Amino acid sequence: MRHDSADGRAAVRKFFTERAARWDTRFPDDGPAYAAAVAKVGLRPGDTVLDAGCGTGRALPELRSRVGASGTVLGADLTPAMLDEVARAGRQPAATALLLADVARLPLRDGCLDAVFGAGLISHLPGPGSGLSELARVVRPQGRLALFHPLGRAALAARQGRRITPQDIRAEPRLRPLLAATGWRMLSYVDEDERYLVLAEREAV
Ligand SMILES: C[S@@+](CC[C@H](N)C(=O)[O-])C[C@H]1O[C@@H](n2cnc3c(N)ncnc32)[C@H](O)[C@@H]1O
Repeated sequence: MRHDSADGRAAVRKFFTERAARWDTRFPDDGPAYAAAVAKVGLRPGDTVLDAGCGTGRALPELRSRVGASGTVLGADLTPAMLDEVARAGRQPAATALLLADVARLPLRDGCLDAVFGAGLISHLPGPGSGLSELARVVRPQGRLALFHPLGRAALAARQGRRITPQDIRAEPRLRPLLAATGWRMLSYVDEDERYLVLAEREAV
């Protein structure tokens, strides 16, 4: 589902509002996969990191444990009901701040982040590249982007009863040039049954 318009954003909100209360119970065993993915981002104590499309905040505690008390953990999501679940799940203390915001229009200064972690986000980003460009705007040169899903493309498609296509924005031949065109250099691409993880570095400006 993509949103290039107010209607599109409303559709994303509706979809995730209907699923927010049950989100964590649907995927109770994903914790170790999130921890392993966050460990690959290369965060250091004191860093500032954004969980883009944070949902119920499943990655927030692990991000906090990596950046420590001196670091800054931001969560941003378009769907109020998902952000409500962050508090219900007891994860709010892990975040410095939660932003009700579109990751394609972030209320953040240029280059203020060391890294962005986006789990289950990329398929929902608006128009090719605009979300990735905005994420590049707010990350400092040499900062990191991690695009993660606890299932690889084929396993996710099977769960959803569809087939993967070469048009999928997450396919390497599509994603690599898109990242390059939006200010990122792909560092690694992994698409296995139990993990989809792309790491990229913000190009120097
Ligand atoms: C598949 S869920 C993943 C949630 C969470 N990252 C996780 O791994 O459990 C995608 C989330 O991205 C949010 N989202 C989708 N498009 C967004 C956008 N343009 N800006 C901010 N959040 C967005 C949705 O509201 C939803 O909470």
